[in-house]
Amino acid sequence: MSINSLARPEIVAMKPYSSARKEAPGRGILLNANESPWSLLENTPLDSALNRYPDPQPKELVSRLAALYEMAEENILVTRGSDEGIDLLTRVFCRAGEDAILHCPPTFGMYRIAAQTQGAAVVAVPRLAGDGFRLDEAGILDALANDARIKLVFLTSPNNPTGDALGADFLLKLLEITSDRALIVVDEAYAEFCPNPSATALIDRYENLVVLRTLSKAWAAAGLRCGTVLAQRSVISLLRRIIAPYPLASPVITLARHMLEPKMLERQRHLISEVQRNKTRLLSMLESRSFIRDMWPGEANFVLLRVDNPDKFLTFCAARDVILRGYPADPMLAGCVRISVGSDQDLSALESALDAWEAQS
Ligand SMILES: Cc1ncc(COP(=O)(O)O)c(C=O)c1O
Repeated sequence: MSINSLARPEIVAMKPYSSARKEAPGRGILLNANESPWSLLENTPLDSALNRYPDPQPKELVSRLAALYEMAEENILVTRGSDEGIDLLTRVFCRAGEDAILHCPPTFGMYRIAAQTQGAAVVAVPRLAGDGFRLDEAGILDALANDARIKLVFLTSPNNPTGDALGADFLLKLLEITSDRALIVVDEAYAEFCPNPSATALIDRYENLVVLRTLSKAWAAAGLRCGTVLAQRSVISLLRRIIAPYPLASPVITLARHMLEPKMLERQRHLISEVQRNKTRLLSMLESRSFIRDMWPGEANFVLLRVDNPDKFLTFCAARDVILRGYPADPMLAGCVRISVGSDQDLSALESALDAWEAQS
């Protein structure tokens, strides 16, 4: 079965917008895009041809991302962060009022938001709270067997906020049983922190697999807003039909290209090893604290805890300028607090706050 038959028919049928820069790359005397011939920042250090529309999918950046993720360029769509990838997938594959996504809370909140924005239903298969928030694999298979509306299955590996990674056998099983009816989206925002192999190696074999990667976490560039959707060409072509004409701003393209120069890889690996070193320190700081009831160290650059008096604890830390993430509105995460791995200095401030909280509680 072709992937086009899973997409919304109107998306397959429509003639996509063709931007000026797509029709004619930015060379020659450019009188085709109603741009200004001058830039206000010309001859300043900030000049980056801002008067011109950027390349919608800049070749050099695409080729660097292809090399980084060990995929062909045709398997790549560069987006405004993974958030945009999630949104595009939902808009292409889910018909309002008819189709659904499946997600496994507690997990990243944007899958639900993208679905609800699109008018798609949200099928939740909660993680097993009594079993370390393990993925309910049988529950996912059941939901797929009983609900024909499900078009997208969002799995996060490692998961935010529980930090657990997806098992390879289960992923293979899911890909097989959904091959003619749904796409499996593996969100690997935190994959670089985890030793498991990326699901990208399976893309050649499975047309219904999509992998999301981002420069926001291990590439230390959340402010850049640059993510990558990886999938077979058939899926990428569908997403290209609806992506904004110019998703990446010129300064973003320039910065991303610099960040992905081969010489930066060593620096990036060093940053990951710093995160790993500091995570070990964070875990030892948290060990045997009287107010911590449970802890999920996970495989990413954060740790999830369950504490006594979470609201007061968060306020206490915030008063010392240490900002942690709480989940007051999520019953599954009652009492939980997520702590990102910070710098040495950040961790020292956190340690003082923890000591003070423990002393007074
Ligand atoms: C699992 C997961 N996916 C995606 C994102 C968003 O990624 P991006 O910054 O590339 O939009 C986050 C952000 O926290 C995340 O935790």
